[in-house]
Amino acid sequence: MRILFVGDIFGRPGRSIVQERLPELQSAHGVELTIANGENAAGGFGITSQIAEELFELGIDVLTTGNHIWDKREIIEYMNSANGNETSLARRLLRPANYPSGSPGFGWYQGRTRSGVEYGIINLQGRVFMASNDDPFRVADTLLRQITAKVILVDMHAEATSEKLALGWYLEGRVTAVLGTHTHVPTADEQVLRGGTAVQTDVGMTGPFEGVIGVQKELILQRFLTNMPSRFEPATNDVRLCATLIECDVETGHATGIQRIMLRQK
Ligand SMILES: [Fe+2]
Repeated sequence: MRILFVGDIFGRPGRSIVQERLPELQSAHGVELTIANGENAAGGFGITSQIAEELFELGIDVLTTGNHIWDKREIIEYMNSANGNETSLARRLLRPANYPSGSPGFGWYQGRTRSGVEYGIINLQGRVFMASNDDPFRVADTLLRQITAKVILVDMHAEATSEKLALGWYLEGRVTAVLGTHTHVPTADEQVLRGGTAVQTDVGMTGPFEGVIGVQKELILQRFLTNMPSRFEPATNDVRLCATLIECDVETGHATGIQRIMLRQK
């Protein structure tokens, strides 16, 4: 089975290229499950219920997020609407599972693909150079005791490649893949660990590359040169889609292949 993970969708440019390139990517590779990180899908900061549903409509099965999840306050109500309603679309929008207990929403999802393969998705956030949340390693242990699916994909939303790779080794043989998000810079370190876990420390950004990690370069330069606050606006040019394709055995859940993808607009 093939799983596609689309890296951080940034603003309207990111959403546009998903709309343009995702269907052909899914059919060319026979993708059965599509996951994307959508925490920057709304103008580069957060996500709205409307944008989440628009992305589900485009063929994304589950959306993961990270530190920007609460940027658009309305998303809290959407997250809460999934409580007690396992079949709602809102249940497919995740926030990191290691957030303080009582946070709105869920950090994991278990579902079935159209052909009936059971799968689990876990969203975690790192603690190195980020807000201190619960230990993502121990939270993963706890969730893996609950999830019955063999095919399990983890989005580790974190700054440090070391923390993301360490989680890959920690979960070796227990999950299908550990993919990193958050830095918006794709790393060329994709590999399948001997135990059958595919790892890449950052999938990269789906958004405008003529800028600084998605934001207009002039605004970021201004911030570095003056230390003065400025309003960040999404860049617009050189839009690319970064994704990672995982191939796995549905019986064991073990990954058999991993491929990095970067596409430009046509
Ligand atoms: Fe992030």
